Amino acid sequence: MCIVGARPNFMKMAPILRALAQHNPPLPALLVHTGQHYDASMSDRLFADLRLPTPDINLEVGSGSHAAQTAEVMKRFEPAVDAHKPACVLVVGDVNSTLACTLVAVKKGVPVVHVEAGLRSYDRKMPEEINRVLTDQVADRLYTTERSAEANLVREGIDAARVCFAGNVMIDSLLSSREFARPAADTLRAHGISPAMLESPRGYGVVTLHRPSNVDSAAALEPLLKVLAEVAQQLPLVFALHPRTRANIDRFGLAHLLQPECMAVLPPQGYLEMIGLMQGATMVLTDSGGLQEETTALGVPCLTLRENTERPITVEQGTNTMVGRDIQVIRNGVADILGGRGKHGRVPELWDGHAAERIAADLYRWLSAGAG
Ligand code: UD1
Repeated sequence: MCIVGARPNFMKMAPILRALAQHNPPLPALLVHTGQHYDASMSDRLFADLRLPTPDINLEVGSGSHAAQTAEVMKRFEPAVDAHKPACVLVVGDVNSTLACTLVAVKKGVPVVHVEAGLRSYDRKMPEEINRVLTDQVADRLYTTERSAEANLVREGIDAARVCFAGNVMIDSLLSSREFARPAADTLRAHGISPAMLESPRGYGVVTLHRPSNVDSAAALEPLLKVLAEVAQQLPLVFALHPRTRANIDRFGLAHLLQPECMAVLPPQGYLEMIGLMQGATMVLTDSGGLQEETTALGVPCLTLRENTERPITVEQGTNTMVGRDIQVIRNGVADILGGRGKHGRVPELWDGHAAERIAADLYRWLSAGAG
């Protein structure tokens, strides 16, 4: 059983399902959507863009507090495991659905496979860090995207024999979807915004923000929106707004900081739209985990508005620079890129578009050997 719940899971699962089906012999899979993300723009649209099949099971849990959401996934997932008796449960990433399904499976004696294991921000205030640490502790087979992840796991007492460095499935999706990317001008036009802003001499920037630490308080969100308004005066920005961020901008009365003449404010975008926007951008400003990796693979400079990253290879080898929430550091980062001093980086080891195939091959061997 393969589990997806929230937006960043979908691009990881799509290539895995294809690789399981194409493996010789095929590895049959049931796709379970927990329903953590349910808006058309956060879920259905991405299924279509990523050529993901309709889920076999939808648990329709929806939103809630961390406890309520995690508990609801567990309650609804347990009967599905009982009914289908899977050989293993495969989870990806670090969202609440990842941990919830892991806990159900492991307590039923069903082996858990974690794709994108071992990433650590070492910031336990991030809900995803808790989900990562706990999922990895009880997972039976762990696939990593960068070599530092195995060292993190071994430090936590996890047997290296359970760990396999397979590469980055999100980059599999990126590479297989690039040719279908929607041009940025079309995306703006679809929202009634003139694409002329993309043709400013410096190009344009892309922004996403949704981490609770950045958007859940006015004290954090207001200065970030102010600095973005300032950046937009030098470089037009396309801002794809997550529903959490949209709601908080309205709640805190900050909508006046979004400046329509130099900022295209869009609803959450489809996958092909986001790739189209990113690959033509001068820079990306984000707090997303996925965008840090995608910009590295695309060679586009990225400024990450967080104090830490669980994906250090994007900084060490890729195009990512951590700028935190310090306004002056953010300004300097923007000035560096606009001054031609942005990082070009190189593509990390095994981010080659074939990670899912390696996972399918290893999974087949591992399950055939009794998943021990
Ligand atoms: C979740 C993940 C985060 C991931 C992000 C990507 C956890 C702990 N967090 O955060 O790691 O980076 O997804 O988007 O699992 N909402 C909608 N429509 C939806 C989904 C959510 O309007 O389809 C709104 C609801 O008001 C909800 C809020 O967004 O309460 C937050 O959604 P939730 O799934 O709890 O967390 P995310 O912030 O999306």
